[in-house]
Amino acid sequence: MSEAIEPEIDIDALKEQGVDLDVAEKVAPEREISVEVGDALVQVQNLTIKFGGLTALDNVSFDINRGEILGLIGPNGAGKTTCFNAMTGVYKPTSGKVLLEGKPLNGLAQHKITRRGLARTFQNIRLFGEMTALENVVVGLDARHKTSVGGALFRLPTHTREEKTAVERGMALLEFVGIADHAHFLSRHLPYGYQRRLEIARALATDPKVLCLDEPAAGFNPAEKEELMALIRTIRNDGYTVLLIEHDMKLVMGVTDRIVVLEFGKKIADAVPKVIRDDPKVISAYLGEPEDDVA
Ligand SMILES: Nc1ncnc2c1ncn2[C@@H]1O[C@H](COP(=O)(O)OP(=O)(O)OP(=O)(O)O)[C@@H](O)[C@H]1O
Ligand SMILES: [Mg+2]
Repeated sequence: MSEAIEPEIDIDALKEQGVDLDVAEKVAPEREISVEVGDALVQVQNLTIKFGGLTALDNVSFDINRGEILGLIGPNGAGKTTCFNAMTGVYKPTSGKVLLEGKPLNGLAQHKITRRGLARTFQNIRLFGEMTALENVVVGLDARHKTSVGGALFRLPTHTREEKTAVERGMALLEFVGIADHAHFLSRHLPYGYQRRLEIARALATDPKVLCLDEPAAGFNPAEKEELMALIRTIRNDGYTVLLIEHDMKLVMGVTDRIVVLEFGKKIADAVPKVIRDDPKVISAYLGEPEDDVA
């Protein structure tokens, strides 16, 4: 598990695993595609976040291995979003650190962390409501590629080549998340489920190594949740590493390779789903939680 994986790309094997090479090619032509679980891509080390007298995250450590879908679960207020916020530069850790590919992210501004390859979505959707779905994604592309949004939107001649690439990539991403038919709708006019998917497309547009999803299925009915989990599997099969916050334990069981459980800011378990399911500490943390709580 300690060696970095530099896989020889076996196109047939990738296809068999359901990798949509066409989309991967359009979205990020220079990206290495790796679908094997490998070394620790992200290391969260002894992370503590205090808000005044409240310790929202208490000395939490875990790794996210390359190519895995790691679930981060726990009851309301357990510290899941706080953990994301600390990882992505929204909050400065009280102590502890976060490493991406062995290099610390501490102290970096949010956009620099994005550029280093850690992208996220928000529990409360944050889109540019007055921009179309496609424009929202092009903004994400801009975080990585040098296309200016102005150029992309107003078709200035100097931007034409990159603009085309950005629009093509943006459309490929919208197709990938299943909302290409709404590319030209203002994002505030999109149905709720489409907005959630658009957030994922926008995060993917930054060409991340790790995609962190904060309750992407919140407010979905069971069928919509299943569809979203299928999309998350496809994203991983496309070579991304995924950290998924979800406090519906049943839901994450089916999609994750491993699960980290938080309760009152502390890590209480870190294991494969079938071990988590039978862990008495986890069961007791969830006692009293409504089964289908999607808040
Ligand atoms: N900016 C903040 N200032 C003060 N307290 C905060 C802040 N952000 C979070 N908290 C507190 O930290 C604790 C952890 O909150 P957090 O949002 O991380 O939980 P969560 O696991 O994401 O919960 P949920 O499932 O409800 O989204 C809670 O007690 C919350 O009230
Ligand atoms: Mg939260």
